[in-house]
Amino acid sequence: MSQLKQQMSLHNNDDNSAPSTPGKFKMEKSPYFNRTRWHSSLAKLTLWSFAFLAVIFIFFFRSPSSPSLPTDTSRRSLRTYNWGGPAWEKRVRSSARVRSRNGLSVLVTGAAGFVGTHVASALKRRGDGVLGLDNFNDYYDPSLKRARQALLERTGVYIVEGDINDEALLRKLFEVVAFTHVMHLAAQAGVRYAMENPGSYVHSNIAGFVNLLEVCKSVNPQPAIVWASSSSVYGLNTKVPFSERDRTDQPASLYAATKKAGEEIAHTYNHIYGLSLTGLRFFTVYGPWGRPDMAYFFFTKDILKGKAISVFEAANHGTVARDFTYIDDIVRGCLGALDTAEKSTGSGGKKRGPAQLRVFNLGNTSPVPVTELVSILERLLKVKAKRNIMKLPRNGDVQFTHANISYAQRELGYKPTTDLQTGLKKFVRWYLNYYSGGKKAVE
Ligand SMILES: NC(=O)c1ccc[n+]([C@@H]2O[C@H](COP(=O)([O-])OP(=O)(O)OC[C@H]3O[C@@H](n4cnc5c(N)ncnc54)[C@H](O)[C@@H]3O)[C@@H](O)[C@H]2O)c1
Ligand SMILES: *[C@@H]1O[C@H](CO)[C@@H](O)[C@H](O)[C@H]1NC(C)=O
Repeated sequence: MSQLKQQMSLHNNDDNSAPSTPGKFKMEKSPYFNRTRWHSSLAKLTLWSFAFLAVIFIFFFRSPSSPSLPTDTSRRSLRTYNWGGPAWEKRVRSSARVRSRNGLSVLVTGAAGFVGTHVASALKRRGDGVLGLDNFNDYYDPSLKRARQALLERTGVYIVEGDINDEALLRKLFEVVAFTHVMHLAAQAGVRYAMENPGSYVHSNIAGFVNLLEVCKSVNPQPAIVWASSSSVYGLNTKVPFSERDRTDQPASLYAATKKAGEEIAHTYNHIYGLSLTGLRFFTVYGPWGRPDMAYFFFTKDILKGKAISVFEAANHGTVARDFTYIDDIVRGCLGALDTAEKSTGSGGKKRGPAQLRVFNLGNTSPVPVTELVSILERLLKVKAKRNIMKLPRNGDVQFTHANISYAQRELGYKPTTDLQTGLKKFVRWYLNYYSGGKKAVE
């Protein structure tokens, strides 16, 4: 499962070596015109030409339709997945079967992820048809994604293993199921990791999103799309609380920039093709089955191990705070967005009228200092944390987030109800259960 990361990190090397072969070939061409070796050389030239053409042919044949920058990576990461066949289609259909009257039929991308698992199971429980899609990449421990998958399987949700960059797969899924909605949560998350592996952000958050929208705009009927943007688009904005109309043109990380790009791309597909698009700017989501790369999660792990944790403070001992939002509140916001999404208006790949375009903050509206997060964890875990106070580095994280949620309140009926203390208690209970019982999934 470490394949994807390896492929990503090899990307640059491959880029350098790929064009060098044709270059070499050209340079060696001149000796072939030496008269004495003409005949054997001609044969060799023909042979090499054929080999070269064959390589080019294979390259284009295997590569998906978009010959853009991340294609190389995606092509190789796509090859490892198996899909198709009557049994597979039956599984897809059965997972996506709608069981309630007026239920939706939803493709949930990133379904093995933290938010995706919760949203998919909530939709399934209320009778909607749900199909998951996830590439199970190893950005964080894939066994946690597998455990979430097992959980979803028990509620009747099948997760197709594949990449959102795989156009053929997406087309096939829409051929088998006429999805009314797409809940798009697949992405490369994380702010720091963008400096280590920028290509993965371009691959999933930009190329993958565009590929998904390309397929969505061309199918009939076009689905309505709800997707995850991020509070990080507010970047260096200092006006609080963050409102949807505030400026979002100063991202502080590549992650934020790809989410902002997503919002602009969404505008384009809405404008040109009549796709109904709703972007949700999540504010630091936490809870059971959460993401191990997030502070509340690895603080818990390190505090229990007796390992020191780095707690950031801003300049002049300034407070670093987050508008922590409990997963169940986020799920309700996602369902509210799906339920209020209007139909897309295009058909035959063409716009037939104006379509809905929305962006909402989904936060908790009560920022909590990270030092307070640590104190709550200490009380819940009954272990004193070893705190290492450090300056907040300027490599992506912002000092403060605070959502103005009045727009979501009005349009989606969104109303968060879980405070950090209550939500962390549920997280810690899950954490202790999950990591004690020999990684046995908890109910
Ligand atoms: N959790 C938060 O605090 C938070 C905050 C703001 C925004 N978001 C956004 O919400 C969404 C869900 O986040 P999460 O916390 O559940 O993250 P997550 O990493 O747990 O889930 C994302 C899932 O998408 C999958 N994925 C990634 N690239 C893919 C690809 N190219 N093709 C198919 N699957 C792919 C991953 O395997 C993963 O399971 C993401 O778009 C994220 O950027 C999350
Ligand atoms: C919150 O956003 C709404 C618009 O949705 C705006 O009218 C209101 O003034 C904002 N509130 C604050 C405190 O900024």
